[in-house]
Amino acid sequence: MELTLDSVLADATDRLAKAARQRRSAMHTPVVGTADGDLRMMVLREATPDLTLRFHTDLRSPKCALIGNCAPVSVLAYDPETRIQIRMRGEGRIEHRGPVADAAWECATASSRRCYLAGDGPGAVLEAAGSTIPEHLLHRAPTVEETLPGRGNFAVLLVEVRSLDWLHLTHEGGTRARFTREDEASPWHKTWLAP
Ligand SMILES: Cc1cc2nc3c(=O)[nH]c(=O)nc-3n(C[C@H](O)[C@H](O)[C@H](O)COP(=O)(O)O)c2cc1C
Repeated sequence: MELTLDSVLADATDRLAKAARQRRSAMHTPVVGTADGDLRMMVLREATPDLTLRFHTDLRSPKCALIGNCAPVSVLAYDPETRIQIRMRGEGRIEHRGPVADAAWECATASSRRCYLAGDGPGAVLEAAGSTIPEHLLHRAPTVEETLPGRGNFAVLLVEVRSLDWLHLTHEGGTRARFTREDEASPWHKTWLAP
């Protein structure tokens, strides 16, 4: 199949959407960067056709205060099998209340909700090693009822992608393309780049 800028953008969109659904995909856990220079891995929960990425997080974690309603966020994903790297920059926002966060919480399994029951948020200083998930839930999944107090700590990070850099590494040097747009409603500017 002939490679075109449109087919590359479609590949990136499709690859990210599949990665969100497939736990074993390398792109299921991309690296997410914030403007303070910090990086962390996060589970990609959804990539929409118009390239808004959804992640779940603990509202108490420092990145939530940093991102707030609007802040630059970068996302880096790499698939070693196909040797495709996708680098993205976008506008991030944290949603704690509202239909998106509510729907995400409803769809989350009881076992994945368990981390939001921890007594301390991510990054809190502890006197001893370990987590602060309640003792009686350490070795079993909570019931849905038991997860309900965790809702207050649950938040969604949405990243509207504004720029996407696609690189396919090969022995012949590879192929690289960049896609940028002003905002979600604007068309993509597309160009090939030297790898
Ligand atoms: C494989 C993997 C998946 C992770 N998934 C998430 C996630 O989906 N959401 C999240 O907030 N943290 C996730 N983490 C933990 C983060 O990397 C990070 O340690 C935590 O969010 C605290 O980050 P912060 O101090 O920047 O807020 C994951 C870590 C690993 C190793």
